[in-house]
Amino acid sequence: MFGGRSGEHEVSLASAASVIAALEQKGHVVVPIGIARDGRWVVGGDPLRALASDARVALPLDDSAGSVKKALADRAEAGESATTRSLARTEPAGGLPAELRRLDVVVIMLHGPYGEDGTIQGLFELADLPYVGAGVLASAVGMDKAMMKAVFAAHGLPIVEYLVVARREWREDPAPVARRVAETLGFPCFVKPSNLGSSVGISKVPDAAALPGAMREAARHDRKIIVERAVRGREIEVSVLGNDAPVASLPCEITYAGEWYDYATKYAEGQARLTVPAPIAPELTRRIQELALAAFRAIDCSGMARVDFFLEGERALVNEINTIPGFTATSGYARMWEASGLTYADLLERLIELALERHRDKGAAG
Ligand SMILES: Nc1ncnc2c1ncn2[C@@H]1O[C@H](COP(=O)(O)OP(=O)(O)O)[C@@H](O)[C@H]1O
Ligand SMILES: [Mg+2]
Repeated sequence: MFGGRSGEHEVSLASAASVIAALEQKGHVVVPIGIARDGRWVVGGDPLRALASDARVALPLDDSAGSVKKALADRAEAGESATTRSLARTEPAGGLPAELRRLDVVVIMLHGPYGEDGTIQGLFELADLPYVGAGVLASAVGMDKAMMKAVFAAHGLPIVEYLVVARREWREDPAPVARRVAETLGFPCFVKPSNLGSSVGISKVPDAAALPGAMREAARHDRKIIVERAVRGREIEVSVLGNDAPVASLPCEITYAGEWYDYATKYAEGQARLTVPAPIAPELTRRIQELALAAFRAIDCSGMARVDFFLEGERALVNEINTIPGFTATSGYARMWEASGLTYADLLERLIELALERHRDKGAAG
């Protein structure tokens, strides 16, 4: 499943293109199910191509074997317009396509709201279908930065100083909020919507004068706004895989030329560099891996997650957990596993096993 109603629609198409190619190469029969931006389900034909053309993005392929490309070329040669065919049958939002009933397991590659936040996971729980990744609770907690931080703090995990501001509170009386930000966090600080991803709606705020613009921008996306002290440090990420006995990969470091890791830096070619493994001391690597597992357990996660850190000097702070991280073969999540000895295709196999295991576990009365 890919696409979706969130700001990370295109990112999801890229993840899906890689996943479909790898699964087909392993001999799985893949039923692609797209979710359009307006929530329509697109099934039958080639939903990936249909959504990519709707989104006006070149079908993102870092599909080394080229199997997606080949499949698309074959279809084009067969003389049918892929777009017309792929839109042959669409379902209204909320309608459950009949295709779902024949599936063994669903690979949810939707990032952000309505994909990574427990809503679609709830649908598959109701349908009694195994699905890859975190369940309803962990997805919801991981998606909402305010809730995620509260849970991390309750588990004693080191996090950056922050405030949660209700949009309404800001709109009705911004002055006390601005004062609180200046007094408790200072400048520069970061302002973000609580529920989003891919750096959408986030601003780095250099001084008090820039705060209102940043708050307005975050408030366009969410009713809860997070303000954080700006950390001056390195960005380190770790992949976690498993259910009750999760394991952590080698960490990676993200470096970039810009001031922070914004949307353009994340997705434009050649803007950010991923160094795997991160060039940090072995003790620090172990500490970060332990914290990543602790964060995974804190939200009762399962399947997979990428846990992101700030490294301020020698001090690691947990920034966030992503329950459906970017998932192309060259995304951080997969590359960290690759460096830890697990290929992309085997990673997907493992995730499917974990999904089936969790589904069995849940059904068993203990
Ligand atoms: N408190 C902070 N201090 C320094 N940089 C930050 C801070 N919060 C966010 N950033 C920068 O913004 C990026 C995106 O923020 P993040 O909280 O990870 O949101 P998203 O869920 O959109 O990835 C981070 O990778 C980092 O570069
Ligand atoms: Mg992030």
